[in-house]
Amino acid sequence: MAKAKMLLDKDFKIAEVDKRIYGSFIEHLGRAVYNGIYQPGHACADEDGFRKDVLELVKELEVPIIRYPGGNFVSNFFWEDSVGPKADRKPRLDLAWRTLETNEFGLGEFAKWTKKAGADIMMAVNLGTRGISDALNLLEYCNLDANSHYSALRRNHGVQEPYHIKTWCLGNEMDGPWQTGHKTAAEYGRLAAETAKAMKVMDPSIELVSCGSSSVDMPTFPEWEAVTLEETYDYVDYISLHNYYGNAENDTEDFFAKTQDMERFIHTVIATCDYIKAKKRSKKTLNLSFDEWNVWFHATQSDNEEMEKHPWQIAPHLLEDIYDFEDAILVGLILVTFLKHTDRLKMACLAQLVNVIAPIMTENEGGAWKQTIYYPFLHASKFGRGTALQSVVHSTMHDSSKHSDVTDVESVAVYNEEKEEVTIFAVNRSVKEDALFEADVTCFEGYHVIEYLALENDDMKVTNAITGEKVTPCRKTQYQLSDGIFTANLKKCSWNVIRFGRK
Ligand code: AHR
Repeated sequence: MAKAKMLLDKDFKIAEVDKRIYGSFIEHLGRAVYNGIYQPGHACADEDGFRKDVLELVKELEVPIIRYPGGNFVSNFFWEDSVGPKADRKPRLDLAWRTLETNEFGLGEFAKWTKKAGADIMMAVNLGTRGISDALNLLEYCNLDANSHYSALRRNHGVQEPYHIKTWCLGNEMDGPWQTGHKTAAEYGRLAAETAKAMKVMDPSIELVSCGSSSVDMPTFPEWEAVTLEETYDYVDYISLHNYYGNAENDTEDFFAKTQDMERFIHTVIATCDYIKAKKRSKKTLNLSFDEWNVWFHATQSDNEEMEKHPWQIAPHLLEDIYDFEDAILVGLILVTFLKHTDRLKMACLAQLVNVIAPIMTENEGGAWKQTIYYPFLHASKFGRGTALQSVVHSTMHDSSKHSDVTDVESVAVYNEEKEEVTIFAVNRSVKEDALFEADVTCFEGYHVIEYLALENDDMKVTNAITGEKVTPCRKTQYQLSDGIFTANLKKCSWNVIRFGRK
């Protein structure tokens, strides 16, 4: 049997969890917007054409910030096409996904939708085919209340109050050869720095994200970070990290070890930021925005065929990965990894939110449903707010085909002082053995177990569907809490959420 011991002390802290690590992403891609969040004429559509069934699920996830409008889409995005009277909006070819963008849904609609969803916007500017002046025009349109052309344009479009969008991404995955307007690190660094400088003159209250690498496996990583940050460091607040994971080899044990790669990615980016900080003798510490992450591989081959053979469709079925049980376990492992790095990781976006590599799916003619990955994200977003604790954890280990010294149990705890609650998130990623888990919570005197939720399944490939959810959390009753020591048997391949409280 695998074994893990965790020791908690409320005074040993990693950092306050920035709720924006539970962000997500809506791109103009496939059915994320059209027939996803927006479908006038659908039985569940509200007065703005927003699907209420989808909004309910988004609200349940308590997503605090949503990145928009891309992704690769943003690199040829003409924001002016997406605002003003709908009758005047022109369709445009989207080169990223080879589809037709009608522009029926745009910036104004997204701002309205996020308000209903209770989320802030993380806006990306096009640094692929456009540049500084277009980024400035967009910022002026969104955030300024001046007697200037683009502020007035927004007011003419019926929006008196500026949107006051705080967080802005300086382009998207500019290191990727697939990106429209792809740049070398030197080219991007200069453009991003000059754009950032000008944007902050216009609105000093904004926060900016400099593009980091599109994955830890990019050949230009981490040189890209070092070269671009030389230019952007003084003007930006975050650097982005993107990474998607897959199990094309059908090697579950190794799939679960991939958060080791994610940790290496995070540590290397932190080291690179701090190297530039030292080199510049800067007092500023740069934080991380992991603004694209998820499992993505199930539908890749059929998507490539669809884009190649049937281009310029409106809202086709693209990137509609159907997630299985093991994907949910990896998502849980990723969330634990994020919580362990909350001292530097301040934002993260689950990519994406609806229909496109998403926890929420819709039927064009029917309802909305929850994928397997919905649940670990829900639990972390709901119960993972407060202070991440620096616990001492000892776990037995194993090797997988491509990784060594893989801990059987990965765990982290979050203490919510205000609510007097502490939650342990623990994943038993052993594919072979259950784990005996012991947590010393003696410093939380008077606390009892509020509930113990788990995702467990013997079938790694089981999925959910509109017709029914085979993967849903269960409530565990087999555990002990005596003299401040919590003990339970964590089933092999399981996600566990153990909530303690005083009330
Ligand atoms: O999220 C899907 C795509 O993945 C995004 O458009 C791009 O930024 C990344 O490669």
